[in-house]
Amino acid sequence: MFMLIIHVIAIVLALTISQQHRLIAASIVIPVNKHTDIVKPLYTALAHFNTSSYLYYSHQNDVPSSLPQNLLILDLDAPFIWHYSYPPQESCDSCPYPVTCEESSCTDLRTTFSYQSLSPSTPCPPSTNSSLYEGYSNCEVCPVNIINPVRPVTGSCDQVIITHYEIMFPLTNGEVYITYLTAGSAHPWNTDRFPAKVFGVIALSSSPYALPAYLRDPVRKVTALCLPSSLSAPGALFLGAGPYYLPPPRSHVDVRSFLSYVNLRKHPIFFGYFIGVEAIVIKNRSISVPENVTAKISTLDPYTTLRTDVYNGVVRRFLKVTKRIPRAKAVQPFGVCFNVSSGGNGTKVSGVKVANIDLMLEGGKKWSISTANSMKQVTDDVACLAVVDGGPMSEHAIVVGAYQLEDNFLVFDLENGRFGFSSSLLRRQTSCSSFK
Ligand SMILES: *[C@@H]1O[C@H](CO)[C@@H](O)[C@H](O)[C@H]1NC(C)=O
Ligand SMILES: *[C@@H]1O[C@H](CO)[C@@H](O)[C@H](O)[C@H]1NC(C)=O
Ligand SMILES: *[C@@H]1O[C@H](CO)[C@@H](O)[C@H](O)[C@H]1NC(C)=O
Ligand SMILES: *[C@@H]1O[C@H](CO)[C@@H](O)[C@H](O)[C@H]1NC(C)=O
Ligand SMILES: *[C@@H]1O[C@H](CO)[C@@H](O)[C@H](O)[C@H]1NC(C)=O
Ligand SMILES: *[C@@H]1O[C@H](CO)[C@@H](O)[C@H](O)[C@H]1NC(C)=O
Repeated sequence: MFMLIIHVIAIVLALTISQQHRLIAASIVIPVNKHTDIVKPLYTALAHFNTSSYLYYSHQNDVPSSLPQNLLILDLDAPFIWHYSYPPQESCDSCPYPVTCEESSCTDLRTTFSYQSLSPSTPCPPSTNSSLYEGYSNCEVCPVNIINPVRPVTGSCDQVIITHYEIMFPLTNGEVYITYLTAGSAHPWNTDRFPAKVFGVIALSSSPYALPAYLRDPVRKVTALCLPSSLSAPGALFLGAGPYYLPPPRSHVDVRSFLSYVNLRKHPIFFGYFIGVEAIVIKNRSISVPENVTAKISTLDPYTTLRTDVYNGVVRRFLKVTKRIPRAKAVQPFGVCFNVSSGGNGTKVSGVKVANIDLMLEGGKKWSISTANSMKQVTDDVACLAVVDGGPMSEHAIVVGAYQLEDNFLVFDLENGRFGFSSSLLRRQTSCSSFK
């Protein structure tokens, strides 16, 4: 029998220590990058793992520079973490060891917490005890299906084997935070399905096999996300309940003081994050939304996507309040664009200001989407309303997409079943890229 193995996925961290109560609140901070992939914009977290030895065991407090830097896609919906790597080999006595088909987590990940349960129409062949994975006999491992979020339509189905990992987060004070989890791994020759340097998916959902479920004291089951708008200056993913201090010179400011909270809603099928939206308001006028509609928060949908009935209402009102800005021909995937060149004097979108689009949430809470998150510059003189028509039958009436999340501080608090949001940090003279 071989020793448990250790694999390190993540990793840059910081321990935030509240001044009065040392070591009570610990958070881990991981940089978040924005990429413009050929398919769509993506947000990834930096991780370090070695795809050929997959043992990383360090007593040092820093990640060795020899360890390759890999990127994992942030996914608020995925049921479990997975990545491309060399799967465990018997000859390796210090490798992560696979889950067998006899373990209950295998059945769980094939049924209740599978990608297939999220999307019954996917063409993946069902995984069963007779599913084979190269190099293993029946039931020795647990192959399960994954759906590649970068290619959700074609060639998206793949299989990973479920593996026990130990994840270490070396803390800056020299301590090491360790947690155990199961995650999928697959042969790295499939990595061409991802943009360069991207090796997998960090699941941040409410599934019991996603990363938040594995966090334990002193790190709480709370995820905070601050997506960068810049391609060059990273934002941040925080694991733990905070405090989340701004960097100097404002390091006394805890971002939690900027937040409003509403309850998260449970969805019967999906593991992602949902909130109730009572109305959408643009300049004092409420756009009717179906009663008690639920909005999904998504880092994988690049722009907010509205079912046609909601989309039409928003567009009608938005055009009314932007009458003074000349229209331009629509640029895919958007339906409403403006000529922002202002008589040829080169006014960029940064010079255009449009009315906020306010999501009215329960308890009178208001999530304001201001110009930086509602208008996207597509060419020198054209900017578009960064909202997409999801069609009359779209699964969710409202999906708040990544462009609208940039430079907003968001907290997904599974311990208290609530969602915290700041609206744009730009109003506070800071941004997600401030968190170094
Ligand atoms: C992984 O680590 C092993 C042992 O430290 C090393 O020999 C190997 O070159 C590394 N692989 C990569 C891809 O860096
Ligand atoms: C797979 O095999 C295990 C162990 O033999 C058993 O407990 C489990 O019920 C089987 N699952 C299916 C779907 O047949
Ligand atoms: C919104 O309505 C309130 C009261 O009806 C009014 O005082 C305020 O000026 C209006 N604001 C805008 C931007 O129209
Ligand atoms: C809205 O929906 C939620 C959950 O779907 C439910 O708990 C709540 O009672 C509903 N509110 C109204 C006003 O219908
Ligand atoms: C925008 O307006 C300017 C000035 O009216 C014009 O020269 C330019 O062609 C327009 N651009 C587009 C894309 O409509
Ligand atoms: C165009 O921009 C220049 C420089 O920003 C400014 O001096 C000028 O007044 C502007 N002209 C008009 C017509 O707005």
